[in-house]
Amino acid sequence: MEELIEFLDQSNKEEYRALGKKINIPISDFEPYIHYESEVYTRNCIKRTEAYELLLLCWDEGQITPIHCHNNQECWVHVLKGNLHEIRYRGDAPNLKIEQELDLLKEGMSYMNDDMGYHSLENIAKGKAITLHLYMNPIDECNIYDEANQKFELIEMTYHTFEGELVEA
Ligand SMILES: [Fe+2]
Repeated sequence: MEELIEFLDQSNKEEYRALGKKINIPISDFEPYIHYESEVYTRNCIKRTEAYELLLLCWDEGQITPIHCHNNQECWVHVLKGNLHEIRYRGDAPNLKIEQELDLLKEGMSYMNDDMGYHSLENIAKGKAITLHLYMNPIDECNIYDEANQKFELIEMTYHTFEGELVEA
């Protein structure tokens, strides 16, 4: 993983885009950042710079994100453990339409940005899942879809752990 961070620190946007095939990191490298909560999937920041944030998301069985945007940034997801179901949406509230459904399998890579619409992710593994997310640039707030009221609301993004330390709520 040190190699990955070195690569990220020295790379420009074009090189980030070619990252897909380069990730081959033993899961033991991520041990300090693995943190689960029973109620929600967790966002654990491994490294944050002005250019990017590298997060480890830890999912208990069945945990799911709301439908969300990416605040005009780019997002790569790499599955380290388990598998996830991704649903991509187009349109505007309250008329979101499912455009595509994908299963993200172990070692799979997915890419998303706002031009591609909105999406949600769900852990469909029997047991826990772990995914590595690269956001470029970091995302401090994003719109999430409130399905009950059929509208988007802007929320501030938070971390459950930062560089391996628990973040106070
Ligand atoms: Fe996302």
